[in-house]
Amino acid sequence: MNTLLPRSIQFASLFLSLLSMNTFAQSLPHSCARPDDVSIRHLHLDLKVDFETQRLAGSATLALTRRPGADRLYLDTNGLDIESVTGADGADLTWELGEPQQMLGRPLAIGLPPAGDQVVVKYASRPSAEAVQWLTPEQTTDKKYPFLFTQSQAILARTWVPCQDTPAVRMTYSAKITVPPHLLAVMSASNPQKKNVTGVYEFQMRQPIPSYLLALAVGDLRFHQLGPRSGVYAEPSVIEKAVWELQDTERMISAAEELYGPYRWDRYDVIFLPSSFPFGGMENPRLTFATPTILAGDRSLVSLIAHELAHSWSGNLVTNATWNDFWLNEGFTVYFEQRIMEAVYGRDYAEMLARLTLDGLLDEIKQLDGRDTWLKLDLAGRNPDDGMTAIAYDKGYFFLRMLEERVGRQQWDAFLRGYFEQFAFRSMTTEAFLEYMDEHLDVDVDTRAWVYAPGLPDNCPAVETVELANAAKAAGEFLAGTLPAKIRDEYHTDKWTTHHWNHFLRSSGDGLTVDQMASLDAVFNFTASGNSEITHDWLLHVIRAGYEPGMRKLETFLTGQGRRKFLKPLYEELAKTAAGKEVALRIYRQARPGYHAVSTQTIDEILGIGQE
Ligand code: BES
Ligand code: ZN
Repeated sequence: MNTLLPRSIQFASLFLSLLSMNTFAQSLPHSCARPDDVSIRHLHLDLKVDFETQRLAGSATLALTRRPGADRLYLDTNGLDIESVTGADGADLTWELGEPQQMLGRPLAIGLPPAGDQVVVKYASRPSAEAVQWLTPEQTTDKKYPFLFTQSQAILARTWVPCQDTPAVRMTYSAKITVPPHLLAVMSASNPQKKNVTGVYEFQMRQPIPSYLLALAVGDLRFHQLGPRSGVYAEPSVIEKAVWELQDTERMISAAEELYGPYRWDRYDVIFLPSSFPFGGMENPRLTFATPTILAGDRSLVSLIAHELAHSWSGNLVTNATWNDFWLNEGFTVYFEQRIMEAVYGRDYAEMLARLTLDGLLDEIKQLDGRDTWLKLDLAGRNPDDGMTAIAYDKGYFFLRMLEERVGRQQWDAFLRGYFEQFAFRSMTTEAFLEYMDEHLDVDVDTRAWVYAPGLPDNCPAVETVELANAAKAAGEFLAGTLPAKIRDEYHTDKWTTHHWNHFLRSSGDGLTVDQMASLDAVFNFTASGNSEITHDWLLHVIRAGYEPGMRKLETFLTGQGRRKFLKPLYEELAKTAAGKEVALRIYRQARPGYHAVSTQTIDEILGIGQE
């Protein structure tokens, strides 16, 4: 029983626990929300950002839609300190926090009065809130001011906002965020483009969105326009490089619109976060959150922007109803990303990306449990993070590509345009999608073999690319003894893209000797590469070969950025030998305080830290 409750309410709840009716057998996976009874229509956040205490403190005002007779609201919370819950008239409402449930947090049950459609929750997040990373000035790029950013997907919104934390519920939102002087706040909403002296910023998101798209970043940010409806936010020293790298953004938006209909979110901006951001990108509406590790200086990694932009349709407009339907978000988005890349950079270029994707998928399928290779996932009782494998993304992509190749682009594109139009601002299950497809797409193929069965069906499209075939051939010749200088001259590697190098390195086996490493390094300067994707692939070889000259780079790479996609394979590779594991633990001890919770959770597991 909560001792902060007024006495009369404590007394009442002795007789009737609000939670007693809420069986823990939930109808929604990963959420205690009961949206059929009561759903949040609009959220207003009024929060103060306090870097001293590392808390977001204030209130969440929820406007509700109620089914007649429904008298309870169940919210997801995880580590929130709840101060009070009141109705529209300011009167206290009965409330109770349930027992913590593994990784899901605690349900907050609120007793609703017979009438009234508003609830105000006064609360504060804790320093340990998993969505939020509080960075000291030293942890930022410019090292002058503190920085904060959130990552709500998949089920972390509840660690900073009491909400119905399920993608099945959509709400509009507004916010008033108070930050220290010198800092700018931005959200997944209408955004300021420069600082004001008050430190108070107001936001509106007029289109209804699911909770996992709630996002906030606060820091010493500059804004620079890219085009009429796009721009970039970054720390001062990053902004120029960011603007240069994202030069093709407007072309991507136009290409996307031409493919699958109008962009429905007004502006499209991108913010480059400090390097600890655990993902490549996050499709927060109106404001993609991005890792600075794609700032390669040659625009070779901008498919990530195409991907996050594509989510403005697949995911943000038509949303997976549960995390078991994650492929509806990510598979469609990888497909759409490919189409944008093809439209802007041409088929040959896009096919290189598709080929790398296919190779990665084949690799990963071998490592996964069969059930985890169905498109329709079963994540009940598990962390939805477990679903973030190549299956949803890349098996999803090849399923859609197979369908496209079957029916032809004309019919396929019309179908997808209709789908996004028909289900805009709605949530979608795998079953409803398949049913819609059965009705609207004239295709005679076993779709269920892709969705409800393991592995990769035989009709998976093949991807032929002359460019990457050459890179693989070059790798083969090198392994057979040809000197790197000769490879360079014969294959004109000075013209190679990042993707050629990725394929070359991935086609070089996993048994390179120290001498082979040294000879490659002498000609191609891999250790000195400033490209994060090439560095990652090279460092895997460095670890396997025990190539000493690469070890310092390994350390700076692991401490200098926190993108889980790069950290995970490198720590895993290190952990394969006793000596490597020692190195991993030494580096991790130093790097861990700089990583976001999403990344530490994964790496802790790999290195067996904190496990009971
Ligand atoms: N929405 C995802 C990121 C995500 C998924 C966060 C699930 C938390 C849970 C985002 O769009 C994404 O897919 N990012 C990728 C990059 C993309 C180019 C494949 C990433 O960060 O690696
Ligand atoms: Zn994505």
